[in-house]
Amino acid sequence: MDRKQFLKACGFGCLAAISGTTILNGCSSSQISREIKESDLLVPISDFIVQKGAKTQFKKYIVIQNDILKAPICVFRFSENDYSAIFMLCTHQGAELQVFGDKLQCPAHGSEFNSRGDLESGPASSALRKFPVSIENNILKISLK
Ligand code: FES
Repeated sequence: MDRKQFLKACGFGCLAAISGTTILNGCSSSQISREIKESDLLVPISDFIVQKGAKTQFKKYIVIQNDILKAPICVFRFSENDYSAIFMLCTHQGAELQVFGDKLQCPAHGSEFNSRGDLESGPASSALRKFPVSIENNILKISLK
């Protein structure tokens, strides 16, 4: 390989690495730690708000964690009064799931679940654990019972 070919190959390699990093960062979601009171995980609705100038927008989902949970809980927002809280633990062999848009995917063997926790593709054979959500004073109360 001559110098020109080497630089060309390195350039594409670097470009691929940078693109990959950017794509991964774009998909990653940061986890928010929230308190558990009695058996309820408490999540302020304001956690979903994204203020862009005078415009208020809402995140489609947030990922909540607490040290006593075995895995995080993904909370999807469908409307002002409609949320789903889904345990991010795969029903196949218990791997922690990742969120991509409105889907939860398993990095271990590729199972996919929708934003209501329903199974879309295996090898998992059952839906994810879902928690009841109620709203009180602009706080989501996610029942962990
Ligand atoms: S552990 Fe999730 S698909 Fe196997």
